[in-house]
Amino acid sequence: MANVHVLDHPLIQHKLAILRNEKTGVKEFREMISEIAGLMCYEATRNLPTTEVEVQTPVALAKCRMLAGKKLAIVPILRAGLGMVDSIVDLIPSAKIGHIGLYRDPETHLPVEYYCKLPDDIENRQVFVVDPMLATGGSAVAAIDFLKARGCKQIIMMNIIGCPEGVQAVQDAHPDVEIYLAGMDERLNDHAYIIPGLGDAGDRIFGTR
Ligand code: PRP
Ligand code: URA
Repeated sequence: MANVHVLDHPLIQHKLAILRNEKTGVKEFREMISEIAGLMCYEATRNLPTTEVEVQTPVALAKCRMLAGKKLAIVPILRAGLGMVDSIVDLIPSAKIGHIGLYRDPETHLPVEYYCKLPDDIENRQVFVVDPMLATGGSAVAAIDFLKARGCKQIIMMNIIGCPEGVQAVQDAHPDVEIYLAGMDERLNDHAYIIPGLGDAGDRIFGTR
């Protein structure tokens, strides 16, 4: 699929196996979400522009490359996306953080908005939308709709687990958005849960069930 990157790095796959395991407790689950997000960030930022700079080392002048001053924003979809933020901000401390609150209606599986707070200059930033799960794609499409309505032009989606239905929905609505996944699963079940997936990401991160 065009614009979809499934990251098959052994470290990511190892941590994903721990994440999926029903026996993994809240503490380790949170750690795995965070560590996988950090590793994914490394790949998802691969094409950021850099500029050449000269740095004086203790022995000589070195030609180096630094990020070309591009402004970034991380936008987690609440709640579960929060688990991915810290490790990304550790790598990119200058990034601003926006929040979009959406939950899936248990009956219709459609996203319901309850919160949105974005950096003032979000339209000038390269935006990384983060959420562990891309199931029907309804939440991702709604979040990207908000961001585009606010003028955002450069949006990258980072999900830990996706499935064909969710990827297709995002691609149909937003063909310009690149999607980074740690795992592409088989399908959705009748409750719109990803099979095999990992269960409810928000509940497992926050210990609510
Ligand atoms: C989960 C997940 C995504 C959404 C994915 O959130 O974190 O946001 O479902 O499903 P979709 O692709 O079908 O929209 P949920 O609605 O359970 O809310 P939570 O993060 O507060 O638990
Ligand atoms: N949200 C989750 O947390 N898990 C799924 O499998 C689908 C949506």
